[in-house]
Amino acid sequence: MRARITGTGRSVPEKVLTNADFEKMVDTTDEWITTRTGIKERHIATEDEALSDFAIPAAKAALEMAGVAGEQVDLVIVATVTSDRTFPATSSIVQDAIGAKGAAAFDLSAACTGFIYGLGVAQHMIAGGAARNAVIVGGEVLSKIVDYSERATAVLFGDGAGAVVLSAVAEDDEVQSGLLSVKMHSDGSLGDLIDRPGGGSRNPINSPSGKAGENGHLGYLRMRGNETFKVAVRTLAQVSKEVLAACDLDATDVNWFIPHQANLRIIDAVGQRLHIPEGRTYINVERYGNTSAASIPIALDELNRDGRIAAGDVVLLSAFGSGLTWGAGLVRW
Ligand code: UT7
Repeated sequence: MRARITGTGRSVPEKVLTNADFEKMVDTTDEWITTRTGIKERHIATEDEALSDFAIPAAKAALEMAGVAGEQVDLVIVATVTSDRTFPATSSIVQDAIGAKGAAAFDLSAACTGFIYGLGVAQHMIAGGAARNAVIVGGEVLSKIVDYSERATAVLFGDGAGAVVLSAVAEDDEVQSGLLSVKMHSDGSLGDLIDRPGGGSRNPINSPSGKAGENGHLGYLRMRGNETFKVAVRTLAQVSKEVLAACDLDATDVNWFIPHQANLRIIDAVGQRLHIPEGRTYINVERYGNTSAASIPIALDELNRDGRIAAGDVVLLSAFGSGLTWGAGLVRW
């Protein structure tokens, strides 16, 4: 069996923070944020909102488009580093809400690359006969772990969720549409470039030693932006080439390139390295900021719902993130 994307969906918080809002919060300017990142605004969850508040509607929208009922879903993956609670997994909350009775469900931690990893895992489970309809959500509420007094990271991130339904189709399907290939990588030696040190078993919140309590910053996301930037460009270009080569395709065959929306300068640099033809790279970072695992499925849903992806189009997805992790997927629509 081959795995095919049969539905897409997205959901983001209503509340928006603009660059003008940040000018009032930290020592920054719209000009700095725009020229260094391309970001103009981002959607931010309220105090009461959590990941499942966006993951569930995104999953439901994807299921509706696919025409797949909840009870037909046998696998739910939520790629995230900001689940509702440390455990149980948010995927089980989604599984229950969509009526996927008894479906396997787990959260997947690969940061901004999580959605690509989810596609890869689900693809192999479908090909191996372990699942027929999978819901894969990439969702993040990074605003809950961002330090809004730290200008270098505060302006970058946004919240939201995107989802796809991946369904089994027979190999002899005429259009040969489906997920052609997924490649996934990691390099733990670069784990300090982006991390959140608190809240795990190394620095537990509420630990008797009070570690995280004494150092509030352990609960915040930390990033070495400059070094991350360089690795991002290199790994995104590398893995995109790898997935194209695996399918005997090159950049001229790509109808839509959807890179992880972290920074417009990274997107431009990668597009140039890959020689993606003009106008074929999808960019929405100006409206969402970096939504981590949600960025690719949100972009995919925008393009798809706007009717801009035609049957037979080749869509290249690639991401990098904390871990470090990086990966790419190639889809024939
Ligand atoms: O998906 C997660 C992966 N993460 C990323 O993709 C992030 C990758 N990195 C980046 O996007 C960029 O490195 C940043 C946007 C984070 C920073 O851009 P940069 O061009 O690398 O700037 P920088 O860190 O070298 O900082 C340049 C200057 C510094 O001031 P000095 O030392 O030159 O006086 C910073 O303090 O810009 C300053 N700065 C700011 N100024 C105004 C940093 N943040 C801000 C800010 N507003 N928000």
